[in-house]
Amino acid sequence: MALRLDVLTLFPGIFSGFLAESIPRIAVEKKAVEVRLHNIRAWSADKHAKVDDRPFGGGPGMVMTCQPLVDAVEAALAMRSPPGRLVFLTPEGRRFDQQLAGELSREERLILVCGRYEGFDERVFELLKPERLSIGDFVLSGGEVAAMAVMDAVIRLLPGVLGSAESAASDSFANGVLDHPHYTQPPEFRGLAVPEVLRGGNHAWIDAWRREQALARTRRFRPDLPR
Ligand SMILES: C[S@@+](CC[C@H](N)C(=O)[O-])C[C@H]1O[C@@H](n2cnc3c(N)ncnc32)[C@H](O)[C@@H]1O
Repeated sequence: MALRLDVLTLFPGIFSGFLAESIPRIAVEKKAVEVRLHNIRAWSADKHAKVDDRPFGGGPGMVMTCQPLVDAVEAALAMRSPPGRLVFLTPEGRRFDQQLAGELSREERLILVCGRYEGFDERVFELLKPERLSIGDFVLSGGEVAAMAVMDAVIRLLPGVLGSAESAASDSFANGVLDHPHYTQPPEFRGLAVPEVLRGGNHAWIDAWRREQALARTRRFRPDLPR
């Protein structure tokens, strides 16, 4: 069954190129994923379709108001059964990683909510009780890029999306280690040769070399990873 992905955003146009190219496009064409974009503004009850307002207590910036957001989320939840896993993209959230990407790829439904401005009115979290997800310790202008990062990592893990040549099984983090180094043509470039073992055709030796290289790279670049 296809993963149903609903994305709530104030800027649905940001997703057009992302969904029209490469792996996400293939996943949509293969019906591994069904993506629905919802413009939060469409749910605004304000006569000018306002979706933000000044913060109580003063200070810079605007805050996304409760009404359009809560109505939009409730409508999305009701569109399909099961209601799905509700995820708000926000810097204070749990850090997204490959393990969570795998977990989300096994869900039937995901609802991703993108913030803008100074973020969400805190009461939205009390009312909807979503998961909070961050893609790292930095601040983006909006949740759309974060949502696309999550979507991309999840979509490529859906069954049948990647060809065997691009299998995710040996990617970094899949087994608690980084990926091994890769080489392609030509055999020599500016005096740098491809390691002999990769050109020899002995697959047992190649596998052993790659495993050893993956461990060495993990020790060097990410000694914090569980091996
Ligand atoms: C300018 S940010 C708001 C930042 C907020 N005032 C803060 O300092 O935590 C606007 C929106 O971008 C998204 N965003 C920014 N950084 C993010 C991150 N690291 N991970 C996930 N979403 C992020 C969130 O949806 C957020 O509501």
